Amino acid sequence: MGEEKAIIRLKNVTKIYKLYENDRKRFFGIFSKHVPYKEMYALKNVSFEVKRGESVALLGRNGAGKSTILKMITEVAYPTKGTIEVNGRVSALLELTSGFDMELTGRENIYMKGQLCGLTNSEIAEQEDAIIKFSGLHEYIDQPVRTYSSGMRARLGFAINVNIRPEILIVDEALSVGDAAFRKKCRKKVDKIIREDNVTMLFVTHSAKTAKEFCSRGIVMVKGKLVYDGDIDSALEEYKKRYSKKKKKATPNEETTAPDGSVPAATDLPAPAAAEKAGQDPVSVPAEQ
Ligand SMILES: Nc1ncnc2c1ncn2[C@@H]1O[C@H](COP(=O)(O)OP(=O)(O)O)[C@@H](O)[C@H]1O
Ligand SMILES: [Mg+2]
Repeated sequence: MGEEKAIIRLKNVTKIYKLYENDRKRFFGIFSKHVPYKEMYALKNVSFEVKRGESVALLGRNGAGKSTILKMITEVAYPTKGTIEVNGRVSALLELTSGFDMELTGRENIYMKGQLCGLTNSEIAEQEDAIIKFSGLHEYIDQPVRTYSSGMRARLGFAINVNIRPEILIVDEALSVGDAAFRKKCRKKVDKIIREDNVTMLFVTHSAKTAKEFCSRGIVMVKGKLVYDGDIDSALEEYKKRYSKKKKKATPNEETTAPDGSVPAATDLPAPAAAEKAGQDPVSVPAEQ
């Protein structure tokens, strides 16, 4: 499928976060080397390539490094060692509602986000109606975004991100936004752009069903290391195997209420990370050591 050239290339990428005891120490740590900190390896020597048109699922438990990979591809974070190459327009469904200007209307935000993604005003104008239609916001589109509910913001965010003709679509469990009908619409749309526009997708999900639905390839992460990269079925097998080996106690399907009130996606894999909110940085957590 597609050309041979890699659209995303990670080469020996290591990401180390410095963990300080508290914010005060974090602050002084900027100026002095003598403030003690712990090194937290979020990624250890990770290398992989994604070709144009491929859909790749990133699988792994909470803390495995999936979001860190996505953040680097979207240039929200940078590698400590190694290199990342991205050769296309990235559209990230990481934090759907981030980057909105609350005082501007929905319509104005469509233009703002479109420009941020490198589109000209006339290119955005071509997509404007489709975005508004997809969001289902109708006349609310000309109200300030601060008056929207969180569901309305998520819908607008999704509508913009999938309609600006992305070349690379980055999805971090975002297909679980909104009500069932809207989720279905999102899935259909993502499916369509993958098939018709030859979009490249990197996808974090805890649902085997969703992963299989959208991805032909899977990468399994364990504690910052890439441990498996192959076709989606064997990657899911590998993920399940690794999870069941390490399982401490069985707590299946306990986590049904997401903190933001959204309905969790159909989860047929153990999802210790279900409560984890996509894209949130636990800045000064003394992480699992
Ligand atoms: N901004 C940050 N500061 C410190 N540690 C972080 C930060 N972001 C992530 N981490 C740590 O890096 C590891 C990988 O996190 P993450 O990429 O979010 O994993 P995943 O998305 O697979 O759950 C975790 O142990 C997490 O606590
Ligand atoms: Mg994550």
